[in-house]
Amino acid sequence: MEVIILSGSRPIASLAADAIEALLRRKPGAVLGLATGSSPLPVYNELALRHERDGLDFSQARGFALDEYVGLPPGHPESYREVIRREFTERVNISPANVHGPDGAAEDIPGSCRAYEDAIRDAGGVDLQLLGVGTDGHIGFNEPASSLASRTRIKTLIEQTRRDNARFFGSLAEVPHHVLTQGLGTILDARHVILIATGAQKAQSVRDLVEGPVAAICPASVLQLHPHATILVDEAAASSLRLADYYRHSYDNKPSWQRL
Ligand code: GLP
Repeated sequence: MEVIILSGSRPIASLAADAIEALLRRKPGAVLGLATGSSPLPVYNELALRHERDGLDFSQARGFALDEYVGLPPGHPESYREVIRREFTERVNISPANVHGPDGAAEDIPGSCRAYEDAIRDAGGVDLQLLGVGTDGHIGFNEPASSLASRTRIKTLIEQTRRDNARFFGSLAEVPHHVLTQGLGTILDARHVILIATGAQKAQSVRDLVEGPVAAICPASVLQLHPHATILVDEAAASSLRLADYYRHSYDNKPSWQRL
């Protein structure tokens, strides 16, 4: 696990975009794992800028969303399919046919979750998975007590997550209780994982995920088992880390040949 503490969202977005750009240049048909929430938005803005300004090419790229609400009407502005389209994919030249998400309106939920796992596998697996983290330590919508080996499935949201996400909806009552999410086992299969956390409200989750035990009470701690996980945090999100000085020292003295 590499923990990188930066001064704010802009340098974090720029570093994450550098990794995605480098991936696309060496593998134009790369499979990107797409997250929602506020944390990845600066990365999507930076990628849209690089597409516009430098011609960064997404024409062969593929995308798989992490998660989705269950029960929102098709086209609902807060469905993650819509959020990803609005915030990212329609701003670059990725083909809409190459962007996939769990189907929160499926009649056969278990069957559609299995099909989603198959689609990720058939695409060759996720090359780079972007992640945020919830204030309760969730990644995707894998709430505490999720199986560390879980695959894409339905989950029930914890009230804290519904309250956190109510800001995107008109009221708390409009936030669905059920969601589909890639499992923790699914996320662990991605070749590279980049988790972004900013702000003091994430300090506890960041500490638990980086320095706590690997435990289902903090689902993001499963990333300690991932061979290539990069944790990008600002000063506020890093404020509870015991080994913050060590992470700073390691990054400042990183061998120049080592990329993210
Ligand atoms: C939602 C998403 C997660 C995201 C989390 C944190 O619950 N399902 O993927 O990481 O929110 O969101 P934010 O980045 O807005 O704090």
